[in-house]
Amino acid sequence: MQELESSWPDDQRRELAAGLAQAAAQIAPKFFYDRLGSALFAAICQLEEYYPTRTEREVLAGCCDELASLAGAGRTLIDLGAGDCVKAEHLFARLQPRRYVALDISADFLDASLARLRREHPALVINGYGCDLTTDWSLPAEVPRDARLFLYPGSSIGNFAPEDARTFLSRLRANADADGQLLIGVDLVKDPATLVAAYDDALGVTAAFNRNVLLHANRLLGADFSLGDWRHLALFDPVRSRIEMHLEALRQVTVAWPGGARQFRAGERIHTENSYKYREKDFIELLRIAGWSNVRCWTDPRRWFAVIFAQAA
Ligand code: AVI
Repeated sequence: MQELESSWPDDQRRELAAGLAQAAAQIAPKFFYDRLGSALFAAICQLEEYYPTRTEREVLAGCCDELASLAGAGRTLIDLGAGDCVKAEHLFARLQPRRYVALDISADFLDASLARLRREHPALVINGYGCDLTTDWSLPAEVPRDARLFLYPGSSIGNFAPEDARTFLSRLRANADADGQLLIGVDLVKDPATLVAAYDDALGVTAAFNRNVLLHANRLLGADFSLGDWRHLALFDPVRSRIEMHLEALRQVTVAWPGGARQFRAGERIHTENSYKYREKDFIELLRIAGWSNVRCWTDPRRWFAVIFAQAA
């Protein structure tokens, strides 16, 4: 884990090149989050079609008193994938943490967010680390082990395949003492039209977010992707219960980078993201298997999004 420095080391570049070279090409979603990608994601969260952010906010507004009494004050609030830190900041007044620890893949973006936060919350101890949560991470020793409250909002857990989600939740448990707690947002299964619209908005912000990953790949690898060759695609797979995002080649293209090259046929795709949608009871079972118990679950009236609090088993 690095203290706010470039978080795109060589192994990430190798991973990116290997994904592009696979028969079914893929780019892992973490590569979305360069500086512009993080800003585009913040814009997505304001879109009418992208219901998760505002639904989660509404659910949290309705449950925050009960949440505060369950969690108790004086915790170390650990924000997993903090981004602009706004979601956590909304909880400060109720949860009264003694320390705030922000982790994010985009250390640059986080740096700017924390500078603002330190100005606005001078009494709070604040740490930030560039961190790839898809790896075998653990927190530095300077972060107290007791009284940890992990915050994983926005249904980012949905970007893991279910078996990797279980590994991730188990890793959180391993990073907490017996008094550890978890507050997590989970997007629930709903009608496919609502889901697809959330990932293919009329303004084209999600399309820009998806296509921007090619510009990031150009910078990371020295590749020569041309944006005009690619279109954004969002599909719902009801069997796997997931939204898939792809980039589809509009014509035959050859993409080259130092040490590699790849030809794409017209219509061939690069798979960039999965976003799994859960049934409440299935997710609670996943938590149980991963070592979390005493689950309390709040949802909105349409049962579109769940906010779940759990304690170390
Ligand atoms: C970060 N994550 C939870 C978002 C999601 O909904 O899966 C990423 C995203 N991709 C497209 N729009 C939003």
